[in-house]
Amino acid sequence: MKEERTPNTSQWDAHLYDAKHAFVWKYGAGLVEMLAPKAGERILDIGCGTGHLTAQIAEADAEVTGIDSGPDMIAQARRGYPALQFEVADATKLRYEDEFDAVFSNAALHWMKPPEHAVTGMWRALRPGGRLVAEFGGRGNVQTIAGSLGAAIESVGVKWRSPWYFPSAEEYTNLLTKQGFEVKHAALTERPTHLEGGADGLRLWLQMFGGVFFEGLSEEQRTAVTMRVEEELRPVLFRDGIWVADYVRLRVVALKPS
Ligand code: BEZ
Repeated sequence: MKEERTPNTSQWDAHLYDAKHAFVWKYGAGLVEMLAPKAGERILDIGCGTGHLTAQIAEADAEVTGIDSGPDMIAQARRGYPALQFEVADATKLRYEDEFDAVFSNAALHWMKPPEHAVTGMWRALRPGGRLVAEFGGRGNVQTIAGSLGAAIESVGVKWRSPWYFPSAEEYTNLLTKQGFEVKHAALTERPTHLEGGADGLRLWLQMFGGVFFEGLSEEQRTAVTMRVEEELRPVLFRDGIWVADYVRLRVVALKPS
């Protein structure tokens, strides 16, 4: 069987991300609190996007490196925070060795496939005694949207394969434990999430992340799929002028033993 690879997220539009998807990093503020960065610590922020959470971590006088596979995202992060360190890098091919006190990741690990490669890279990047603090889509995440989207894509004759990895807490705990991590916390939480843009919210969300699942579709097919998904989901996810996505978060804290 063909091994699943990280989908191509490198073309993401950094402007659209900042303008209409700020909720992604705003929700991550609580995760930074959980990370509790300290002055002088070296921290790796995986999937840093345009760098807003990297900057929040740096406020504690920690030495942070933000990485993302999207060159546009990294260019925007460098413009926004020129004093910070950012690199274009694929989290399934990390080259760091025993150098970080903590690895942090918000809303990114569900894109990294195969997940074992990301876990191994994070393990290697940490020094003994270092910690992993991460949150991403867990089992059941965007299930309603994905169900409708998959059916709409198949209706135009294109095979749908989910581009995401949404594990249960148990599954991800097993993966981390197998690598050698000591898992301190792993839990799923439903977090219905308001999409920005009012009546256009779902369309903008599909536009932002759609490069991945719309690959190979013509412009007309993309429009037809988007309209079908909006129509089908309006009675379910559109409330009081706001689209509410069925997000489920998996939050994990794990240690690399000394
Ligand atoms: C998420 O953050 O859960 C997510 C974002 C885009 C597509 C799918 C899931």
